Amino acid sequence: GHTGTGRAHGKAILFGEHAVVYGAPALAIPVPRLPVTATATRLPSAGEGADQISFAIAGPGTGSATPVEADDLRHLVAEFKVRAGVTERVCVDVLIDCAIPRGCGLGSSAACARAAVLALGDLFGRRLDARTVFDLVQVSETAAHGRASGIDAIATGATAPLYFRAGLARELPVAMAGEGFPDAARAGAAHPWEFDGLFVIADSGASGSTKEAVEMLRGAFERDPRTKETFVREVAGLTHAALRDLGEGRVDDLGARLTENHRLLRDIGISTERIDTLVETAIAAGGRGAKISGGGLGGCMVALADDPRRAETIAGRLHEAGAVRTWVVPVGRFASYA
Ligand code: PMV
Repeated sequence: GHTGTGRAHGKAILFGEHAVVYGAPALAIPVPRLPVTATATRLPSAGEGADQISFAIAGPGTGSATPVEADDLRHLVAEFKVRAGVTERVCVDVLIDCAIPRGCGLGSSAACARAAVLALGDLFGRRLDARTVFDLVQVSETAAHGRASGIDAIATGATAPLYFRAGLARELPVAMAGEGFPDAARAGAAHPWEFDGLFVIADSGASGSTKEAVEMLRGAFERDPRTKETFVREVAGLTHAALRDLGEGRVDDLGARLTENHRLLRDIGISTERIDTLVETAIAAGGRGAKISGGGLGGCMVALADDPRRAETIAGRLHEAGAVRTWVVPVGRFASYA
């Protein structure tokens, strides 16, 4: 055909951001109400020459792709051709409709890349397996972040909360309840569980650079490896405990761990005053716990509420305290992680 489409969605990290870059596990939830759709259209190509690829991203507060984003996505097309065995000259126009606000830790870059990869696969009639899609999204994520754990690449396509661990270098990521990775089948079936809590996500309105945050930590950790070890160990402990809380429906315990993880991130310099204020506001409004979410240095925070009315109250207070957007995300019913 002449067009192909691909879809992805936003995500929020509940536990383990930054530590996940150093091999710790992390927990994330998909946010399907922040959808991304990419449409790839074949352009009439005359003769020979280099590929012609144009990208545009439309969405809240955005125009076309920034040059950096367009470059990241161009890397992705070159790699797509290699992996999908496309040898012909490629002339395509990729239009991405992205409902995820950008630069606030909700996975916009990975979701745009994922939707674009799937749209290209569709356009060229290639069935891409989960591993190939992951690798291709990682090409542009690595270009965008410098060092990307891969959690966004998976969470932006996941249909259930996600436990993620990427080992050091290039080990196969383990995505339980994700899609298509070996452990998913093993982890998925057993005991369906329900979790009554709801997450309130709030955008602080100040965008933060994940790349900058990751680089800042790398520098700090190189100078002081003990800080790194302590941080990674403590976050990993919280993530594992949170996994059990989720599976057993312990909303209060899960909330306390969120706040604890926030403290660890704040202490290593990832939070901002504005985010700290939102975290305190959410807890004062009856949230069971709250923390910064994602790359940090701005961006979003997430709070846990035990019922829908409380979630609305928290969202209202967060707006009063300066949040520019909020979303309430119920966790729901899922197959066991155990
Ligand atoms: O894309 P963000 O801002 O949600 O950050 C991704 C999470 C990090 O752990 C900070 C980076 C990574 O690659 O895992």
